[in-house]
Amino acid sequence: MSRRQIASIILAAGKGTRMKSDLPKVMHPLGGMPVIAHIVKSCRAAHSDKIIVVTAPDMPDIAATVAPAVTAVQPAQNGTADAVKAARSILEGFDGPVLILLGDVPLIRPETLTALVIAAEKTGLAVLGFEAADPSGYGRLVTDDKKFVTEIVEDRDCTSDQAKITLCNAGHFCVDGRRLFDWLDRIGNANAQGEFYLTDIVAAAAKDKAGCALVTAPEDEVMGINSRAQLAQAEKILQNKLRQKAMENGVTLTDPDTVYLAADTELAADVVIEPHVYFGPDVTVGRGTTIHAFSHIEGAAIGENASIGPFARIRPQSAIGDRATVGNFVEVNRSELKAGSKSKHMSYLGDAVIGENANIGAGTVFANYDGYNKLATTIGRDVFIGSNSTIVAPLTIGDGAYIAAGGTITMDIEPDALAIARNRPVIRDGWAAEHRAKMKGKNKS
Ligand code: UD1
Ligand code: MG
Repeated sequence: MSRRQIASIILAAGKGTRMKSDLPKVMHPLGGMPVIAHIVKSCRAAHSDKIIVVTAPDMPDIAATVAPAVTAVQPAQNGTADAVKAARSILEGFDGPVLILLGDVPLIRPETLTALVIAAEKTGLAVLGFEAADPSGYGRLVTDDKKFVTEIVEDRDCTSDQAKITLCNAGHFCVDGRRLFDWLDRIGNANAQGEFYLTDIVAAAAKDKAGCALVTAPEDEVMGINSRAQLAQAEKILQNKLRQKAMENGVTLTDPDTVYLAADTELAADVVIEPHVYFGPDVTVGRGTTIHAFSHIEGAAIGENASIGPFARIRPQSAIGDRATVGNFVEVNRSELKAGSKSKHMSYLGDAVIGENANIGAGTVFANYDGYNKLATTIGRDVFIGSNSTIVAPLTIGDGAYIAAGGTITMDIEPDALAIARNRPVIRDGWAAEHRAKMKGKNKS
């Protein structure tokens, strides 16, 4: 039997005024990816066939972020019920369950969305609720003795008795697609904000004798992000989940609270992460690799049994091979270090491919920028680059070549050659002793 199609509408057109930001609220990063991207990911994992994100007219970045999910524009921000109507033409004739999700409630698990779809099967309507430690700001769920929701009252519209209710509206619904827009059309805007509230769908459905089923989730899965403080709180919850998952997968985190992971960080078993390590988006680390303390890594594929840091910085579009070493105060930028290669101390490796088992000496700098263009360097396998070398790109150093310490290399070097690019020192025997004699009696300033 084929499964019914599921649609999801994610509301993201609100101004997010409480964030006091030029960036739309749902574009703020959480675990290294925009808030909205978390929800889109959960919808996909919950087998949503059609995903529609509702935005305001001036939010082009959201469309690019959520693609291939489509966007629908809500012309004016007249409330969450009005926002759902923006998806009406796209869902014309759709008769399956429709998940309606708030774009600022990002930590929702796919399993919970599936539970909402199942709960809405009988009555055509289900809402997600939670027990709030502090309910202020949230809509309150009024329930009957069968635990059906009879009314949702926004914080601003609560009586003093209703304000004491701790069962709150997480904001996510599932509604029968055949009835959704009829019910929405019944919703008015006679409330404290003069907005069309999606929460009034419960009263609208009640007129058809359709009850509203309740699904609950823990608060840390459904907290809403309306302010910077809530964004920080959501980050904390997410980080703890990611750390926990990493440890369950066989990763050692010496001091988990000090390690920051991105939602897409992939760490293999037997990876060791020392304290104070930061992972930006798009990082994978292979089995047995150690990331030493105070390293900052983004956009990098790191192989197995490699050693990174302490105090390493690896920037996007980089790859570190198996058994390679990137040591202290080494910056790797858009570069690849192949298997077994080493750069152990204080270097800048930019726009380079470094061959297998090459050794890059302390203080080596790849001069990869002429003020206009980024220029590439290719270092062959088994190359030895002496300390304090400046490699002026673009150039190629052939397999097995040696570069003597302290040189500035400006041309290609043949395989197995030795390049010495430094001035011979000028030696004056006895000069220092004569100089001291001449200066005797004078004060050193
Ligand atoms: C909403 C709920 C509240 C619930 C809380 C959970 C309503 C009326 N209230 O309140 O019951 O407890 O979430 O976090 O639904 N949006 C639009 N267009 C609009 C207005 C909002 O797309 O015209 C979007 C926003 O971008 C946001 C989401 O809807 O992603 C929720 O809006 P928000 O203003 O944050 O509602 P809350 O006050 O948090
Ligand atoms: Mg909100």
